[in-house]
Parts: sequence; structure tokens; C-alpha cells
Amino acid sequence: MNPNFQGLEKIPRHVAIIMDGNGRWAKERGLSRIEGHKEGAQSVRAILRAAAKSGVEFITVYAFSTENWKRPALEVDGLMALLVSSLNAYEQELHDNKICLRVMGQLERLPLFARKRIQKAMDATAHYTDHTFIIALSYGSRMEIADATRKIAEKVKKGEIQTKEINEQMISDHLYLPDVPNPELMIRTSGELRLSNFLLWQLSYSEFYITDTYWPDFREEQFFQALEAFNSRDRRYGGVNKK
Ligand code: IPE
Ligand code: IPE
Ligand code: MG
Repeated sequence: MNPNFQGLEKIPRHVAIIMDGNGRWAKERGLSRIEGHKEGAQSVRAILRAAAKSGVEFITVYAFSTENWKRPALEVDGLMALLVSSLNAYEQELHDNKICLRVMGQLERLPLFARKRIQKAMDATAHYTDHTFIIALSYGSRMEIADATRKIAEKVKKGEIQTKEINEQMISDHLYLPDVPNPELMIRTSGELRLSNFLLWQLSYSEFYITDTYWPDFREEQFFQALEAFNSRDRRYGGVNKK
């Protein structure tokens, strides 16, 4: 099948994805969890291509949460190594599709070799404006909101802003990537019905698409189905639609 992205009426500007189910995918096949993560990395590549094809401008993937640090060291180390090997293998893809790489999260917690490799890929792709690929790494939304609150409090303390000026826009402006629009669509694979500390503020009015498909099986066709589902949604934003 060759999905007809051009036939879709609405294309979300920003799609955020909770890539879940790598471990269960591997377990079902008698493989190690890291084998599941490796196959999942192939799905990331497929989705980046599909996004470029469909006209989605921003893709954010949840690759590693602040809570994921509590996984066994073997798995955490494997994920860090996979991050670096995936950047080595796919950086060319970012250039081919004119994709700018960005990251968000507590990067200082990552091992130095991973931080350096990410920085290199970000520097090399910073000039692309067509598409943006955001990796949420060592990311937690509650931490992001706490960080934003601290930044605002410091400005109040210095007398740069008044408390009465604090509004929704100001909070948005102090999150990690203030210039990125909120996702219109959030996809979670593997059937879990929770946010797991992902983009709590930014997803306030996003459409949710939950599929039972495990992340390593989520490719172009499944992405197209998610966009199709998005097209059938009636977004009312608390109002009433005249239909
Ligand atoms: C998602 O897959 C990837 C990461 C959280 C890094 P999981 O590793 O959570 O897979 P399951 O949920 O155990 O199947
Ligand atoms: C969420 O998946 C985090 C990522 C996909 C990186 P988890 O598998 O860690 O979340 P829980 O444990 O199901 O909440
Ligand atoms: Mg999981």
C-alpha cells in the first residue's frame, strides 16, 4: 500500500508520539528488550520519512523519560548507545529530508558521549526550516513546568516582571521549546491509556490516538491511519460546531 497523504484534508503541523511497546514486542519474539528498542529505532526513521512526505512540520518523539532512569543499567546503557548509533546511521536522512534536530529534557543527566553526538547532529541540521524532529530525552513534563516556574519566579525577584503579568502565554514562553507550536495530535502505541508525564501543558487540547500496535510495528501505513483518524475528529475547543 502507498498511503495517499495528499488526499487528506487536514495535516497536523505537529504530531507528538509516545513510542511504547518495544519491550513487549521483543518479549513476544523471545528477543532481548534492547532488540525491541533497535527495531523501534527503524520505526522512527520510517515516521520521519512519512512526516516529510505528508507535510507534517514537527514530530516530537518521547524517547526517554525522567522515570526511565530507574530501569536496569544494562537497558539504560543500551538505549544511550542506540541513540548514538541511530544518529550515526540516520543523520544523512535528516539532511536528505531537510530536517532540523532538536532535543528537550534534562540533557545534563545524559552521558557525555551521547550529549556530544546529539550536539553535533543539532549543529549540522540547525539551518533547516522545512521540518523539525524533536527528541524528548530524559524528559518529564512536571519537571519542565517546575523549571518554567522557577525561571518566572527569578524574574519576579529581580523586578523584571510583576506577578499580575503572569498568564498562560508567559508560562508557555518559559517551557523548553517555546517557539514550537502545540501538537494537534498525540499518538501512543501499545494500547496504554496514560500520558506518562509527557507534554502535560502542550497536549491540553490535542487529539489523542491510541493504538494497540507496538512501536516497532508502527510504520508509514499506521502513521497514515492516525492522520486519517485525526481528520475524522470534530475539534470544538469547548464551543459548539454548526454542522
Ligand atoms: C518504549 O518501550 C521505549 C522506552 C520507554 C525507552 P518500552 O521499553 O516501554 O516497552 P514496554 O512498554 O516495556 O513494552
Ligand atoms: C513512556 O513509556 C516513556 C517513553 C515512551 C519514553 P513508559 O513505558 O516508560 O511508560 P509507562 O511505564 O507505561 O508509564
Ligand atoms: Mg513502556
